[in-house]
Amino acid sequence: MADPFQDVDSVSPELLKIMVGALESRAVEADMVPIVDRYLDQLSWTPGGTHVEIGAGTGAITRMMALRAKDGLVIGIDPSDGLIEEAKKLAHGIENLQFEVGDGASLRFNDSSVDSVVMHTVLSHVPEPSQLLIEACRILKPGGRLVVCDADFEKSSLGNFDGDPLNACAEYFIRNYVTHPYLISDIRRYAAAAGFDIEDFRVDSRVITNGDGGLGWIKMSANQMVKQGAIGEELAGALADEYRRRKEAGSLYGHQPFGTLIAVKSQ
Ligand SMILES: C[S@@+](CC[C@H](N)C(=O)[O-])C[C@H]1O[C@@H](n2cnc3c(N)ncnc32)[C@H](O)[C@@H]1O
Repeated sequence: MADPFQDVDSVSPELLKIMVGALESRAVEADMVPIVDRYLDQLSWTPGGTHVEIGAGTGAITRMMALRAKDGLVIGIDPSDGLIEEAKKLAHGIENLQFEVGDGASLRFNDSSVDSVVMHTVLSHVPEPSQLLIEACRILKPGGRLVVCDADFEKSSLGNFDGDPLNACAEYFIRNYVTHPYLISDIRRYAAAAGFDIEDFRVDSRVITNGDGGLGWIKMSANQMVKQGAIGEELAGALADEYRRRKEAGSLYGHQPFGTLIAVKSQ
């Protein structure tokens, strides 16, 4: 099955709703907020600047960028009409923020015209990450910064014991909803090949002990298993209930390393 994040507009309304909920809830997780704050602190928010998020989804990160940009403009780009529509609704009233439908491999911006580019959990979902990195390098001003923040999916787990059914869902998610589970291992050489100087690379922990961050993996995986006819609705519901039970019992435990690369376009 092709990674549904490559063409979000082709998924069912039910799956789109699950995706929207998962993106919005992940952005406010206790471990995610400091990861995003740290990389946004490393960008230059000079007045009048233009800052672009490629693969903005529902705009959860783009809205955080707009708070920093104050006297600058933030533009969120995503190929999905459905997600851009959702992003516009969620950003209602934020004046320095715009959303547009577009493909990160072919952007409308002039060469050397933007101050920063952010890609948050996007490159792990595209077939050719290098194309988006080369395009980001083209539109950035010399000295402009790129942030790539992505999950190290290959090392992610919800498993607490051998054969844990919740981990079966996490593994299914990695195999069916992710295009490049090893993106974080490869990202420094991809960025260097696209013309960037690497300024910083770090890996932080996203620990799932509460909240619904891991529930997205369960629901998206179970939704697809039901669609395939592999399991019934009853088991899909039971898997989500087991996640909620562990959360309430204080026994929920998942882990996902999150890599962040900051790179500069050479002067
Ligand atoms: C996991 S979501 C991340 C959304 C958002 N950055 C966030 O973290 O909340 C991946 C996003 O990448 C977008 N995407 C997929 N292919 C893309 C492409 N070629 N160019 C730009 N974005 C793309 C999807 O539509 C989706 O919104």
